[in-house]
Amino acid sequence: MPQSSTLPRKSYKMNNPVQQALELLGQMTLEEKIGQMSQVNGGGWDLHQAVREGKIGSVLNEVNVEEVNELQRIAVQESRLGIPLLIGRDVIHGFKTIFPIPLGQAASWDPGIVEKGAAIAASEAASVGVNWTFAPMIDITRDPRWGRIAESLGEDPYLCGVLGAAMVRGFQGQELSDPQSIAACAKHFVGYGAVESGIDYNNANIPENELRNVYLPPFKAALDAGVATFMSSFSDLNGVPAAGNEFLMRQVLRAEWEFQGFVVSDWDAIRELTVHGFTANHCDAVLEATTAGINMEMASTLYKEHIPGLLENGSVSNENIDALVYPILKLKFELGLFDNPYTNPGHFPPMVNEQSLQAAREAALRSCVLLKNDKHVLPLSRQELNSVAVIGPMANDGYEQLGTWVFDGESHHSHTCLQGLHDLVGNEVDIRWSAGMQSSRCRDEDGHQEAVQIAQDADVAIMFMGEESILSGEAHCRAEINLPGEQETLIERVAATGTPVVLVVMAGRPLTLGSVLDKVSAVLFAWHPGTMGGPAIADLLFGEESPSGKLPVSFPRMVGQVPIYYSRKNTGRPPSHDSITHIDEIDGRAEQTSLGMSAFHLDAGFTPLFPFGFGLSYTHFEYADIERSASHIELGDTITISATLRNCGDCTAVEVAQLYIRDLVGNVTRPVRELKGFRRVQLGAGESQRLTFELHTDDLAFHNRKMELVTEPGGFHVWIGGDSNAELWTEFEIQ
Ligand code: NOJ
Repeated sequence: MPQSSTLPRKSYKMNNPVQQALELLGQMTLEEKIGQMSQVNGGGWDLHQAVREGKIGSVLNEVNVEEVNELQRIAVQESRLGIPLLIGRDVIHGFKTIFPIPLGQAASWDPGIVEKGAAIAASEAASVGVNWTFAPMIDITRDPRWGRIAESLGEDPYLCGVLGAAMVRGFQGQELSDPQSIAACAKHFVGYGAVESGIDYNNANIPENELRNVYLPPFKAALDAGVATFMSSFSDLNGVPAAGNEFLMRQVLRAEWEFQGFVVSDWDAIRELTVHGFTANHCDAVLEATTAGINMEMASTLYKEHIPGLLENGSVSNENIDALVYPILKLKFELGLFDNPYTNPGHFPPMVNEQSLQAAREAALRSCVLLKNDKHVLPLSRQELNSVAVIGPMANDGYEQLGTWVFDGESHHSHTCLQGLHDLVGNEVDIRWSAGMQSSRCRDEDGHQEAVQIAQDADVAIMFMGEESILSGEAHCRAEINLPGEQETLIERVAATGTPVVLVVMAGRPLTLGSVLDKVSAVLFAWHPGTMGGPAIADLLFGEESPSGKLPVSFPRMVGQVPIYYSRKNTGRPPSHDSITHIDEIDGRAEQTSLGMSAFHLDAGFTPLFPFGFGLSYTHFEYADIERSASHIELGDTITISATLRNCGDCTAVEVAQLYIRDLVGNVTRPVRELKGFRRVQLGAGESQRLTFELHTDDLAFHNRKMELVTEPGGFHVWIGGDSNAELWTEFEIQ
């Protein structure tokens, strides 16, 4: 956090947000400064009067356009200094046009569509006066029990960084002052994804080295993309809750990264410092938060109550308060709010318009991951099929397909899968439908019979199963991550008819699908696909498009494997397939050391059910002829790695080609693989393309034991392939 001495001097040209913010700051009373540091929830108490008195700097969750404009009018016309408001809202995966949940968008491995989705969300939200969103959420998530994995971009720092930066660009556009741009917020700083047991709000213990190598990089990528704000996490990191964490907010964010924007606390998180047992009372909580550098307090009103006293007794300085207020004012100038605080929805493209729906459909299409496709049961052929049984609680539920964090989206805009199938093939194929269950959690088996009946009479059964949206998201964690309710029973019963079953899963997290996998012919994992999920999934099922999504997170076989992620460390006793014994194979009274003395579970082995980066398509891709531009390079050099990708099947399809490295020896141990590049490549049947990836030695840097960011000379392995188990490899050395 900049101290007053580091505040920019007034040497900037006129009409510059920096200078304007400084000049304004000079005119403010203490009460007005604290007002700027206060964000309150819309509605409720006498907001108008508080805004009039300059006691509020930001309002969240007010999206009624008349009310937003009225609040802005009061702020600029009736408050003493006329400072407009920041209007914040959780626009997490769309405003009215809902895109797939972020974890689904991450499965597209497509920064372009992610950026476009954020831009559409920004424009729709800005039309009602929202000028700040609390996204992207770029917590690294390796625990699918945690409900907030749905909001995340997955387990990998590189993928999460690239896609998080794309979201920032989408929200913020070319210029923050563009009326269709809104300020973004990188959250939750930091380590929230590592909460123990996957229980929300729990504490996280992350060694500093791991923090710097795994959890911080996506935030640095968002910062480099120009993100305007950060949000501190709810969680306690290594004993210090983020809202009072000076190391994170002051040392890392301000001193090391030179972040010039501001940090907002999470909801009520400053008051919760005392609940954590970190501070004795509210006053101490405010002291810790302001010292750490939390510029704005969300929802609670402790800054207002305690900053004056802390200034009086000298615990907090005026300079510190000025340094906290200044970037809030600066953002308001950057957003152009002083020139025009109002919105006129008539000047924006209509919400949920054709182009937005098309983009949401494209995003849904690219986010679906084909996990299994026995005997090429997919794509279905409208010529060959006479009848299809559509079964399952997620098949025709426009609400549930939207997923978590949908405050503004409306289910009547949703196109469901049942509708999508009718629209696509309803004229040619007899579609029969039965939900089978009232909800994804339903234990009542009354509906099973009807579902089994229609499956019996059909050529294929498509089962739309998964999790309702309430089962993931904030505070919605699960200890079991299987298909809930009696879904497995229903799948078994339908499969027992002998009709081939295609399982489409809509869910907010990876699920343990092992027990149903061998009962079904195909599995398409569709996450919560958003408004246009139905037509996109219908297109995929009937082969209008080939699936191209790849997993942004490993799928465990069973929950006891969690956390399981591809970029694990090798350990001193790495397992191999021929060195492990399964629990069912153990001889009676087997000798203590006879089971393979390596790192694995007796009942689950050591591999996930589906690895990071995995996803099938309707064609088959092959990688060959990997080459490197040099066998030895020096620090500062760039090496080129290339391979040929060939579409060996008979349809056009997109492959996400991935590049992984392993740094063989490090001052701290390095992961067995790390993603360092990826590309979506479309190839026609029989076509091939030479792919090249460039790696600068800086791309191979990591934080060592002294927390220095270094690239160490030594040997590297490098792979190019279609998932994190890619086999085609070569090696090089940095001298
Ligand atoms: C709490 C959540 O943790 C955060 O992600 C969200 O932005 C705020 N509430 C505001 O709704």
